[in-house]
Amino acid sequence: MTSVSRDVFGILPGGGGTVERFHLESEHLKADIISYGCIITRLETKDKHGNFTDIVLGFDDLEGYVNKHPYFGAVIGRVANRIANGKFTVDGKDYELAINNGPNSIHGGIKGFDKVLWTPEMVENGVCFFHTSADGDEGYPGELKVWVTYTVDGSKLTVNYRAQSTKVTPINLTNHSYFNLAGQGSSDIYGHEVSIDADHYLPVDDTMIPTGEVASVVGTCFDLRKPVMLESRIEKFQINGFDHNFCLRVEKEPQHCARVHHPSSGRVLSVSTTQPGVQFYTANFLDGSLKGKGGAVYQKHSAFCLETQAWPDAVNKPQFPSALLYPGEEYNHTTWFEFA
Ligand code: BGC
Repeated sequence: MTSVSRDVFGILPGGGGTVERFHLESEHLKADIISYGCIITRLETKDKHGNFTDIVLGFDDLEGYVNKHPYFGAVIGRVANRIANGKFTVDGKDYELAINNGPNSIHGGIKGFDKVLWTPEMVENGVCFFHTSADGDEGYPGELKVWVTYTVDGSKLTVNYRAQSTKVTPINLTNHSYFNLAGQGSSDIYGHEVSIDADHYLPVDDTMIPTGEVASVVGTCFDLRKPVMLESRIEKFQINGFDHNFCLRVEKEPQHCARVHHPSSGRVLSVSTTQPGVQFYTANFLDGSLKGKGGAVYQKHSAFCLETQAWPDAVNKPQFPSALLYPGEEYNHTTWFEFA
């Protein structure tokens, strides 16, 4: 049994509207999700002693989320991850996006889906958020209708993304939660054991755009097919952390994608998805400058993200699985976060 309740989280400045918070609760999971950015602001799961702890980074109030932050808990769109030089051509037309990450466009632009107020509706076991992105919004073609539904069932949090467009458009929707299974605000994730079911990953250039090569993980730090402890992996390969797309084995069917185990707390997160890829990001760009929930200071490597997604820059890489949505078709992807 999942109970769903709602209250007011805050008021957006400048008459921007009222942000509601939805509380989804089962015997195993407690999730708070707000109508601004479809942001998961709190996610409590049980440790091995049965104690609930909040395991996602974020802020205590709306102001934190309205200000610039690295997408804590938010739904990212219209296109998550990077588009090279913010340029692409579809249907014979050239499009240009705002450049907001080095020379590239990232996470939907200046005002992506993480910065809009969605229209919520309570559904069985959860909440569905709706948003219309206008034709030309952030430079993208076509009016796009988007539905994001969060449901809780026992120990599972499901996120379903649906969309329809009036013109051919690139699309890539994901959730950008930052997890720390020791509890949000814990200093690092080195004691987390990670596995990702991918035989290939995408090497990137120095602006983080995939080179186009689909490289084997064998013999590299990206071979996470068997569980590895993050600390020893980062040390052994002398890397700055992970911020790469792992290519999953199947393109559209549900598949198990990643598992993270934190032995001290006993928490396990298993992620499954219908998406063809997952960005494993170890919060390399956090630097302690943000004041988070309960006064927490978020340092480099104090969280990890598993952003299930289309492969980055797919719109400019015909050899990658297509990330285009055509009029008359429906985009429909689901990701499952299961906690044990
Ligand atoms: C990207 C990182 C970026 C982070 C926050 C991730 O999806 O891969 O490079 O720093 O989002 O924007």
